[in-house]
Amino acid sequence: MLKNINPLWWQNGIIYQIYPRSYQDSNNDGLGDLQGIISRLEYLHWLGINAIWLSPIYPSPMKDFGYDISNYTDIDPVFGTMANFDLLLSAVHRMGMKLILDFVPNHTSDQHPWFLESRSSRDNPKRDWYIWNDPAPGGGPPNNWLSVFGGSGWEWDEHTGQYYYHGFLKEQPDLNWRNPEVQETMFNILRFWLDKGVDGFRVDVMWHMIKDAQFRDNPINPGYRAEMPTYDQLLPVYSTDQPEVLDIVFKMRRVLDEYPERVMIGEIYLPIQRLMIYYGDKNNGAHLPFNFLLLSVPWEPVKIAAAIAEYEGALPPGGWPNWVMGNHDRPRISTRVGSGQAKVAAMLLLTLRGIPTLYYGDEIGMRDVPIPFDEVQDPQGLNMPDKNLSRDPCRTPMQWNAEMNAGFSESKPWLRIDKNYTLNNVDRQKADHYSLLNLYRKLIRLRTGEPALNIGRYIQVCADDQAISYIREIEGSSRFLVVLNLSHRPYYFKTTQKTLSGRIEISTLPEMEGMITQGTIELDGDQGVVIRLDQ
Ligand code: GLC
Repeated sequence: MLKNINPLWWQNGIIYQIYPRSYQDSNNDGLGDLQGIISRLEYLHWLGINAIWLSPIYPSPMKDFGYDISNYTDIDPVFGTMANFDLLLSAVHRMGMKLILDFVPNHTSDQHPWFLESRSSRDNPKRDWYIWNDPAPGGGPPNNWLSVFGGSGWEWDEHTGQYYYHGFLKEQPDLNWRNPEVQETMFNILRFWLDKGVDGFRVDVMWHMIKDAQFRDNPINPGYRAEMPTYDQLLPVYSTDQPEVLDIVFKMRRVLDEYPERVMIGEIYLPIQRLMIYYGDKNNGAHLPFNFLLLSVPWEPVKIAAAIAEYEGALPPGGWPNWVMGNHDRPRISTRVGSGQAKVAAMLLLTLRGIPTLYYGDEIGMRDVPIPFDEVQDPQGLNMPDKNLSRDPCRTPMQWNAEMNAGFSESKPWLRIDKNYTLNNVDRQKADHYSLLNLYRKLIRLRTGEPALNIGRYIQVCADDQAISYIREIEGSSRFLVVLNLSHRPYYFKTTQKTLSGRIEISTLPEMEGMITQGTIELDGDQGVVIRLDQ
């Protein structure tokens, strides 16, 4: 049955996330820009990815580095102009790739003209575009809701004598999505970009968009520990993931459906069962609610196998799976699992069912870079300095070559570059047939050409204290066995099943490629193999 499926582009590809500020600087101001990205498209084409997601590029005071937008239909001068954007879009399309933009509907910048109007007086027509409330009866904030970035979620406005709500920075006031004018305006912004030919959106903090109509207090989190972000002191059951948010998601999806083959991806950090609801009961929600399991699952075979099974088991009929290995908010995979396991992690990401999202730089094993305290930029790090929560370490400039500033810029970069860049960079890894980069490329190629690896069934074979193994197959077509040794010790994959004999198609130790396997397969520590099974 799966054989006859003709997947759409977003069901059959690999998404690559670019953090534009850190990818490539073209005008030597130390900040990445659109022209820089254009100059690197050849590389992305060579790598074989088919969709690029850009973190926000709109005008912004950059309090949260672009996630605080002051104009939704223009380009920030740091990144270039609308003409640069149009060039980028057409160049991406010319190369047969797609472009996905970041859409940040939950909040704007406090410098957005809408908010300036909203805060100008209580009877301003835009007052209700944001979330304003009177102080609590005894004084103080209207309720106990907290900001993700630390402190109360409410900010006092002296001028109009009310508080406004901000789930993130106080410079990021939350829009009131219960207001129909807000909805229509935001949908028209989607249309503006869709009309230009943008292929889809990654929707920022989708589960935050609607809040409890009664503004009830959030309950205390009994599992809170001192090292956790202060936001986790409460369970955000009234400030996020409200049932009515789905109506908004469905409406948003209908806007995308006015255009052919566009994709809507939702950024949603929720337990799996809740996440699945965002697909919509008729697959009328997000095409891809981001699956973040691999960002946090302990790197242990049994736990990873359980996470995969939990996800596969919870997917609604027709819901398309996806897997994320890194993003601009979380520690990098190489740092999390160690450089020895980086190749195994690549093999896992690119052999699971559904669409993988790859974070820029992970393909060369970029690590979290320690940033001295006096250079920290990220507001999350600055606001909770004793908790080591800065996201700067995973946002450092791309390491292209061994030249000045890793080929990123001729000026001092906005964030320091990993000191290992002369040894670890794209140029060097390109030239090394056995590099992580070339492994990524090989895996991407194999996956793109083999529907079994993309849409084929996932069947777990075994998970023990060292390794995980599974089959990907389309009956009557190709079958692959993937064995991943997550430990540093040798591993012996034993099977008596004749059906598991085949030929190693890709190995993290390339000298094993082409080997015929039958019976026991001996793997080195940190080794993974993709075996093409005999029929
Ligand atoms: C999302 C973004 C993050 C940003 C936050 C507020 O989680 O990924 O970078 O800080 O939303 O917009």
